Amino acid sequence: MQNRSSPECSTPEPQESAQPAPGTSAPDISLSGRPVTRLQRAGIPLEPSIDADMVDRLVETFYGKVRQDERLAKLFAQDMSKDWPEHLAQMKGFWRSVVMQTSEYNGRPVPAHMKMSDIKPEDFARWLELFREAAVQTCTKGAAELFVNRAETIAKSLQMALFLRGVIAPPGAFENGVLKDGVIEKVRQEQDEWAGRPLSP
Ligand code: HEM
Repeated sequence: MQNRSSPECSTPEPQESAQPAPGTSAPDISLSGRPVTRLQRAGIPLEPSIDADMVDRLVETFYGKVRQDERLAKLFAQDMSKDWPEHLAQMKGFWRSVVMQTSEYNGRPVPAHMKMSDIKPEDFARWLELFREAAVQTCTKGAAELFVNRAETIAKSLQMALFLRGVIAPPGAFENGVLKDGVIEKVRQEQDEWAGRPLSP
């Protein structure tokens, strides 16, 4: 009979020993068509201190602040198609996918924000301000930097889709993840000029 503690039997089996992160629901088949391993399902954090509990704390703290903020709370009340517990569960899955690579989020952020009738660049400034505060309060320094960096990158691409008709913003168009004053008008004017030009022969 084999002795499980003998050196030849102690080779770790990382893919089999990893446990799913609490609350994750990663699909069985990845987008590439290959089966998702248990290690992938548990996620591979992009920063060592990040785990599912940290994501939970950050998401709960952040949306607690959003709900206290008059303007953002109004936008969410107008445009959210779910109730808060369902939204928070979705956002936890989204952030685990982003920072722990669990591949469990399969929603579409751009259309979800495109349908918002009254969202403005300055709302992203406030959103990011509250997100930075929540990250500092709930994460290690390295994790907070990673979360904020990812939030700013996603906020920029949402703003390009929402306010610049999907055009890649010119260099220097953003400050701290938010479109600077005058950029929207400049980009739209350039687009209109291009649209009015005759096709070259
Ligand atoms: C002004 C800033 C923002 C506002 C007011 C806002 C508001 C909302 C609202 C109301 C929803 C729910 C939509 C629905 O239930 O149909 C939503 C969904 C979502 N938001 Fe935002 N959001 C903002 C910025 C961001 C940013 C910067 C990110 C990412 C870093 C983000 C990520 C998401 C995601 C992943 C969803 C779920 C989309 C889906 O798959 O249905 N949001 N947001």
